[in-house]
Amino acid sequence: MYYSDEKIEEVRERNPIVDVIGSYVHLQKKGANYFGLCPFHNEKTPSFSVSAERQMYHCFGCGAGGNVITFVMDYENYTFQEALKMLADRAGVELPKEEESAEMRREQDLRSILLKIHRDAATYYYRMLRTEQGKGGLNYLKKRGVSDEMIRAFGLGYAGTHPQALYRFLKEKGYSDQALRDSGLISIRENGTGDKFWNRVMFPIMDVNNRVIAFGGRVLGDGEPKYLNSPETKIFDKSRNLYGLNYARRSRKGCLLVCEGYMDVISMHQAGFTNAVASLGTAFTVQHGMIMKRYTDEVILCYDNDGAGKKAAIRAIPILKEAGLRIRVLSMEPYKDPDEFIKNLGAEEFQERINRAENAFLFEMSVLRQNFDFGDPDAKSRFFNTAAERLAEFTDEIERNSYIEAVANRYGIDFSLLRGKVNLIGNRAPVKYDAESPGLPERPIGRKNRDTGIQAAEKLVLTVLSEKPEFAAKSGLTAEDFRDPLMKEIAEAFLSGGAVSPGAVLNRYIDSENYARAAELMSSNLSETMSSEELEQAFSEAVRRIRSESIDRRMAVAESPEELMKLIKEKQKQYVRPPS
Ligand code: GTP
Ligand code: MN
Repeated sequence: MYYSDEKIEEVRERNPIVDVIGSYVHLQKKGANYFGLCPFHNEKTPSFSVSAERQMYHCFGCGAGGNVITFVMDYENYTFQEALKMLADRAGVELPKEEESAEMRREQDLRSILLKIHRDAATYYYRMLRTEQGKGGLNYLKKRGVSDEMIRAFGLGYAGTHPQALYRFLKEKGYSDQALRDSGLISIRENGTGDKFWNRVMFPIMDVNNRVIAFGGRVLGDGEPKYLNSPETKIFDKSRNLYGLNYARRSRKGCLLVCEGYMDVISMHQAGFTNAVASLGTAFTVQHGMIMKRYTDEVILCYDNDGAGKKAAIRAIPILKEAGLRIRVLSMEPYKDPDEFIKNLGAEEFQERINRAENAFLFEMSVLRQNFDFGDPDAKSRFFNTAAERLAEFTDEIERNSYIEAVANRYGIDFSLLRGKVNLIGNRAPVKYDAESPGLPERPIGRKNRDTGIQAAEKLVLTVLSEKPEFAAKSGLTAEDFRDPLMKEIAEAFLSGGAVSPGAVLNRYIDSENYARAAELMSSNLSETMSSEELEQAFSEAVRRIRSESIDRRMAVAESPEELMKLIKEKQKQYVRPPS
């Protein structure tokens, strides 16, 4: 930390918390405090409170809390320094000169160097596209109908055929080999150093603040792999970024259009659908959902019209629902993807498809329907049984009935017959979730969605620890970091240092109502379903989440500014990942 504590205090004081948070969250005064919908978890009634007197915020729902600086850090995904700068600018506080030379030292900070490398690389690729060497790339884009305006807006470029071109360019700018390796753009090896990308059309991936944080590169024509993407780095986390969101967030169209690929996003923006985004060649995550929820309440899935696209949509729906988004699914029939559709039928027809996009539940039903042959009475009744189980998950009666009606109409079954079936399941269901039966079902009826993220993280960490006790030491967690009382207890056993067998831990709960939950934690076998790399990544992500929530909880009850500052610093460390 290079700014003096007085300076930090000045920035904090000049940014009244109610004003700052009020510009992100709609706040209403109630008594001494202000209340609004928490931006850090999904909720329908406001439990997020901001106190002008204490200059702190606290969410009674998810436990998030802190001061104006931590709010900006969390909301914008900024480091402490970035948040401070933003707030200083906002309030017209000048950060002192000598601090600026300290800021030069901050350039040691890998994160800012990586951002610079990416900015330079993006400029390099962008210019390359307009050179003789880049002709192939430019022709490719022209052939696909990408306009000059889109090339500019998305900063499209070209990586040349020389295998060290970018490396040399960046070396000349003075970057160290270490930094270049960390950027993921250069591979530095004993037997040869080379650019990761060559002879590809380059798509810079920008964060919501228009900073280039990674690249995707497409072969010209039919080579393999079609797309090559940057690896995850200290500045690039695939599960937290969406391609095109830097523009889509400002589109004010009332919904976001989610598609599969770079080219789809660009075609859609070009056709005026500036609210299009894509996940970056990965499955949707809850974080993606929460990030979108900051900007909209409704998402329209525009996935490819093929088996993989349907599967991806089916997988994304529950995740997006979890984030509290309404979801509809657009039909691309008879074309494969938005790019092809728009080229063939045009923007007006695409808009028409947006208007007519199907409700996500009914989409799921129609995909389900394809597995059953209605010519076979047995298959037909199995379809309605499965549909009824899904319908029983709607806890609101009016909502449930309207869906029952829609399904009954669409698939030709008597409404009251189907409703009877659904209600039967609805009444029977809670028994299935009795504590006695080990292993919880995948979809508990009427479960509370709130906070499942942190719960899932706690669960994952404990499951991993039960399989791999050696992970305990490197997690850096203590039992106190866990929120759920049962998880805390189990964590205590696993983190206490000595060797513990899951069986022994489980035995402690043998007579308790917690047996089923404890058993579930320790009986799943993650190594069977994940590669060890995936497992480690999931583990460290979950650890990060737990720690950051734990710091938030402590912040919310911090009594002195010193204590708070200490926690802020601890929190800041969260954003810089330890070298793996
Ligand atoms: P084109 O229109 O053929 O240029 O591609 P697209 O943008 O329509 O992409 P496609 O539907 O083929 O794939 C969707 C997304 O998945 C792409 O934008 C990439 O992010 C990712 N993707 C596709 N192919 C590959 C690949 O070979 N490797 C990796 N890592 N990602 C890929
Ligand atoms: Mn395509």
